[in-house]
Amino acid sequence: MSTKIAITNAKGGVAKTTTALNIADALMYIGYKVLFIDLDPQANSTSVYEGTTLRSEGEKTLFDVMEGTSNIKDCIQHTEFGDIVAGDSRLAEKDAEYQVKIGGNKILKKSLKEVDKDYDFIIMDTPPNIGAFMQNAIYAADGCLCPVLPKKFAIDGLGQLLDTIDSIRDDGNEKLKIYGIVLTIYDKRNAQDRDIKEQLPELGENLGFHVFNTEIRTCQDVEKALAECKSLFRTKGNSNGAADYVGLVKELLEVI
Ligand SMILES: Nc1ncnc2c1ncn2[C@@H]1O[C@H](COP(=O)(O)OP(=O)(O)OP(=O)(O)O)[C@@H](O)[C@H]1O
Ligand SMILES: [Mg+2]
Repeated sequence: MSTKIAITNAKGGVAKTTTALNIADALMYIGYKVLFIDLDPQANSTSVYEGTTLRSEGEKTLFDVMEGTSNIKDCIQHTEFGDIVAGDSRLAEKDAEYQVKIGGNKILKKSLKEVDKDYDFIIMDTPPNIGAFMQNAIYAADGCLCPVLPKKFAIDGLGQLLDTIDSIRDDGNEKLKIYGIVLTIYDKRNAQDRDIKEQLPELGENLGFHVFNTEIRTCQDVEKALAECKSLFRTKGNSNGAADYVGLVKELLEVI
């Protein structure tokens, strides 16, 4: 049985993709078998995986999984970065359709049963909106990890995100956990960042979520590794970013 983790936050640009990729990479580096699923029609994660290896056009993607035209096993691509079910821009037009279709939010959950035994972890990157794809990820997940920027507006949106996760828990995913909130792109030289870091644990206690002790610091090596489609751990293993993601993964494994 795999542990399925959705990296979620309806806000854009909070480092969901960066966090999903680095957590998957760190887990693989430790030796776990990991499957990555890119549920964002922007397919940013997929473009990083694509940059690592040469693949032929026309391979099957999450589109085929969602449309039911292929078995999920046939949609997994084996790359240098690891195994991935690629995202697909064609899914952008399908969001509303899946939301009204009966069972449309649980398509991924059903499909993952076929590969559950093949992996230790399934890491899901999600889009920046509470649409069908984020919902498919949360229905399929054992738990959610929420990257959050150390900014006031980001913290203000947390209540809504937790409500969404709670409503899915009530609607047939009783075991769903919130593994925790992680501060990302944290700059200790910025007073607001420091204030939010200080306030977050108390907010967590009030709203009922765990806050990871590790925050992911602003780090050019993190940006650069992804822009160049390289593994942070293999190319910049002694960077702050690599140390932070290792710290986060250690904490995550304890929470799980
Ligand atoms: N630790 C970091 N230090 C510096 N830059 C970072 C760090 N983490 C992420 N970034 C940069 O922040 C930007 C947003 O990151 P990312 O694409 O992961 O966010 P996202 O939440 O997935 O965005 P979207 O909501 O559009 O999917 C990217 O340019 C990324 O390179
Ligand atoms: Mg993203």
